[in-house]
Amino acid sequence: GGGRRLRFRVEAGAAGPVKVLYLPAVDSTNRWAKAHLAEFDAVGAVWTMSQTAGRGRLGRAWANAAGRALYYTAVLRRPLADPAALPLYASLALSRVLGARYGIAARVKWPNDLLLGGKKVAGILCESVADGRGRAILCGIGVNLAQETAMFEAAGLPHATSLALQGVQVSPQDDAPALAEALTGEFGPAAMEEFAARGFAACRDAYRRACLNLGRRVTFEGGAGTAIDIDPEGRLVVETEAGLTRVFTGEVSVGGIYGAVNAETGAPPAQN
Ligand code: BTN
Repeated sequence: GGGRRLRFRVEAGAAGPVKVLYLPAVDSTNRWAKAHLAEFDAVGAVWTMSQTAGRGRLGRAWANAAGRALYYTAVLRRPLADPAALPLYASLALSRVLGARYGIAARVKWPNDLLLGGKKVAGILCESVADGRGRAILCGIGVNLAQETAMFEAAGLPHATSLALQGVQVSPQDDAPALAEALTGEFGPAAMEEFAARGFAACRDAYRRACLNLGRRVTFEGGAGTAIDIDPEGRLVVETEAGLTRVFTGEVSVGGIYGAVNAETGAPPAQN
């Protein structure tokens, strides 16, 4: 809305200024970015610590924990060789950022959930949008910083966790802006150069190392088996009794993680 007060922070990035916008509160950073695409250049970002109508994948909601979480969206207007693999790149980028700030090694649950201590600490929702200047990809990232167990229980999220609950020393007010800056760097021209040009091949090995599905029994829509690899397109390769299957969409659950509860999966960015 017009009366909203914005704080702009403009950084001198490798290829020109990168805009990282802070909003005191917003319905959804993804939705806001879509409505304000014209305000962004090749790369930009918007973030808040209070998101009143956050969106998750598969049409789900993303719960708000005002002051205790980071809600962040990167806006990418540059062409990408393999936009469908951006969620996988983003999960690695987020893992790098969390590793650098906290010294932790969050794992990726295919396709792009970040897990710590076997529970989900961050989620990613990438969307493809368009305005008069062409297409953009929005990469929305929600990071659980300091929620308490009771908050997740009240929200019906028994498999969610926060960095604080995992024993990480967090200071949400200091960490959220620092994480937003660091994440934006991961989507900047220098960091994305290889991924932008080569697509998933540029990060496939790193993704395999981070991915905790591999070697485990998984259940997906239409079957079950052992996850044995991530193929060049970023799909999960599953060895079933009927042979090899490649999973790109649908529900996938991993044995020993989240119990019997399914986690969502990796469709290419939705066309909005
Ligand atoms: C998931 O379901 O795992 C993805 C959750 C993505 C949540 C983030 S929070 C910032 C951005 N804005 C939204 O409305 N959703 C994403």
